[in-house]
Amino acid sequence: SEADIGLVGLGVMGANLALNIAEKGYTIAVNNRSSARIDDFMAMARREGLDARALPEADLAAFVRSVRTPRSIIIMVKAGKPVDDMIDQLVPLLDKGDAIIECGNSLFSDTQRRFERLKPVGIGYLGVGVSGGAEGARHGPSIMVGGSREEWRNAEPVLKAIAADFEGESCCAWLGEGGAGHFVKTIHNGIEYGDMQMIAEIYGIMRDGLGMDAAEAACVFKRWNEGPLNSYLIEITGHVLEAVDGETGRPLVELILDKAGQKGTGVWSAIAAQELGVPATAIEGAVAARSISSRKDERIAAEAIYGRPGAGGMAAAIDDLEKALLAGKIVSYTQGLSVMARASEQNGWGLQLSTIAKIWRAGCIIRSRFLGQMATAFEGDASTNLLMVPDFVALMKECHGPLRRVVAAGAMAELPLICLSSALSYFDASRQARGTANLIQGQRDFFGAHGFEIEGRGSDLHGVWPATIDKAAE
Ligand code: 6PG
Repeated sequence: SEADIGLVGLGVMGANLALNIAEKGYTIAVNNRSSARIDDFMAMARREGLDARALPEADLAAFVRSVRTPRSIIIMVKAGKPVDDMIDQLVPLLDKGDAIIECGNSLFSDTQRRFERLKPVGIGYLGVGVSGGAEGARHGPSIMVGGSREEWRNAEPVLKAIAADFEGESCCAWLGEGGAGHFVKTIHNGIEYGDMQMIAEIYGIMRDGLGMDAAEAACVFKRWNEGPLNSYLIEITGHVLEAVDGETGRPLVELILDKAGQKGTGVWSAIAAQELGVPATAIEGAVAARSISSRKDERIAAEAIYGRPGAGGMAAAIDDLEKALLAGKIVSYTQGLSVMARASEQNGWGLQLSTIAKIWRAGCIIRSRFLGQMATAFEGDASTNLLMVPDFVALMKECHGPLRRVVAAGAMAELPLICLSSALSYFDASRQARGTANLIQGQRDFFGAHGFEIEGRGSDLHGVWPATIDKAAE
């Protein structure tokens, strides 16, 4: 056995991770179900001068034997059943003390289950979230590790070496036991959905409300990328908007069908938030917006009846749009962080929000200047509510007015702002000392005697309500 580590699953992400590992000086054994992929990978490795550190092995048992013990085996296959199947095949080939490192976009409860299953067998299990797409996997992703601490110790040098670097710090950390790493990756993706949707809503205002063409919008996003919104997603938005279709010479973005795909992590974050009783309206809104986007035929039919949103134009200052996006972002991250804080409490993970913000500063899809500010704000601060952290209080005070103007003008222009408007309502609801649930409690007591509380009088009180059965039947 000569390899430092093994990797099964040479899809785009797996192959790039393997090249990254070899480039950092580790010898990596590779295996894939179809051996053609192994050949392709070796050709790639050869082109990059990394083949000397790659050990191709088409037979799974031989592959396992080629890794030095205690073994670390990365699996990078499609989330769901393929992961379980791969574990079933690997377990009989592994020895006590070996570890499986699963790096796909797995559902955290699956990871938790696999972790529990392998514990009594003596095989370690790390569920690892890897963000940054193919480029990230090749040159430095953000790596969110969950699972047993001992296995983390073994895998730590490799994982830290291949992760993105932010000013000398590796964007890889062990976050907690069991499914902690995959949970954090899922919420990362939920936040990613929110960021993307809010950017798309602002683009909608530019296109349909302000009548800007794609090139003009691209210029604005490029400028914003130099300011507080500086981030990977704003940067690529500029590039996407300025791309021109080779065939027609038109902006490519105008030709792309307006139906967004989704592979599940956004929905999982929304479900997790709801199950934990934590409102995450921006993430939920972003998922809903993708679902609405997929109903193209219904949208066409309804537009024919109700008219085209934005047809009358809209007035908005570009500066307001920038600040609105920033305010929406603060709310969306506030929600994502509180989902993680609650999940951590419930699962005993001990998640450190400052560590999470730090490893998101580079490598991942949501990397941004904003996350740098967040990491600093949470440093040595035990609070989990971003909206109450002083630096962000100042920012929110400056930006919620612009968000309000944009949402109000957008509503009057009939433009859909699912994420931005729900972020604004969340903010307003969350800072209203006396809300309106007193009325809900009255209604609940009226129809179901559910009881209500009056300060100073007690908690299971009831009203004397008039009977309504007969009236309703009339
Ligand atoms: C990342 C991305 C990555 C992937 C998502 C996209 O962090 O690198 O989030 O994991 O692009 O699966 O998800 P959708 O296909 O659901 O948009």
